[in-house]
Amino acid sequence: MKKVLVAGGSGYLGRHVAKEFKQRGYFVRVLVRNPDKIKEKGEHGEPIIYDLVDEVVTGDATQPETLKGICDNIDIVFSSLGMTRPDFKHSSFDVDYRGNRSILDLALAGKVKKFIYISVFNAEKMLDIENIQAHEQFAGELRKSGLGYTIVRPTGYFSDMVQFLNLANMGIMPVVGDGDKRSNPIHAADLAKVCVDAADSDTTDIDAGGPDVFTYREVGELAARIAGKNPLFLAIPLWIGEGLLAVSRFINRDIADIISFALAVSKLDSVAPKYGTHRLEDYFKENL
Ligand SMILES: NC(=O)c1ccc[n+]([C@@H]2O[C@H](COP(=O)([O-])OP(=O)(O)OC[C@H]3O[C@@H](n4cnc5c(N)ncnc54)[C@H](OP(=O)(O)O)[C@@H]3O)[C@@H](O)[C@H]2O)c1
Repeated sequence: MKKVLVAGGSGYLGRHVAKEFKQRGYFVRVLVRNPDKIKEKGEHGEPIIYDLVDEVVTGDATQPETLKGICDNIDIVFSSLGMTRPDFKHSSFDVDYRGNRSILDLALAGKVKKFIYISVFNAEKMLDIENIQAHEQFAGELRKSGLGYTIVRPTGYFSDMVQFLNLANMGIMPVVGDGDKRSNPIHAADLAKVCVDAADSDTTDIDAGGPDVFTYREVGELAARIAGKNPLFLAIPLWIGEGLLAVSRFINRDIADIISFALAVSKLDSVAPKYGTHRLEDYFKENL
């Protein structure tokens, strides 16, 4: 039986990936900071995996001494470990780069044959954003590590689209720029299948998005329809967004990163090859 370590196992994608590996007959070890978290459903409907997986190990990737042994007897490492919300203590480089680098070092010292890592779709066009730099610096070192690898670069997750529902409920729908840039967000259960398929494939780089393409304005309209609301669509010119970004840089670099990312995707089509079957409309109905 092949053994996999899922780092980021308490997160939106990590939980779906752990479940998918388990369903395909793997021995699954998950790395989490707080085991209690995976005893409950996640805030975006992520599955409870505490009793499903074979082993739960506790560690903090910013403290390498807590990671000892996590790659022992492991064949494949999957990592969606990353800082997706500012914690006002660590930088993206501390978590996304150095945290994953510590796991890679342990994988290299052990008998791991393959490392599957999650970066971001269109990363090469957004390298001015620190979080994207951290992802891609790690991806570059993984590529040179000598280990088998796949780097998966997804578009936006359904979990992030829930903010459109929240805005619809609040009665206001800000649209940065023209709102006409297109993307195909993906459900973590669909992306998990792509990631687990990668375990047995020689493909080194995979771009992945969901089955339906929307403009940002269309996502807002869909959210409004499902929520049964008629929000005010508020056009925010790009120059206001850029001004906000300039100010935020003086306050907190992680918040600046989030604004920077929002601005980048409002200027860029982000349509990746289509995978999966989950529809955003159904996801909105489930998360009302
Ligand atoms: N959201 C998107 O639209 C999108 C699109 C493309 C790519 N991505 C990338 O996909 C990856 C996964 O995203 P996600 O939505 O699944 O994120 P998530 O739900 O925030 O999960 C991140 C995971 O990393 C863990 N983690 C964070 N800091 C850690 C640390 N110091 N030590 C150990 N574990 C730590 C978290 O643990 P806790 O549960 O304890 O916090 C969680 O398990 C991220 O790298 C993200 O940048 C996201």
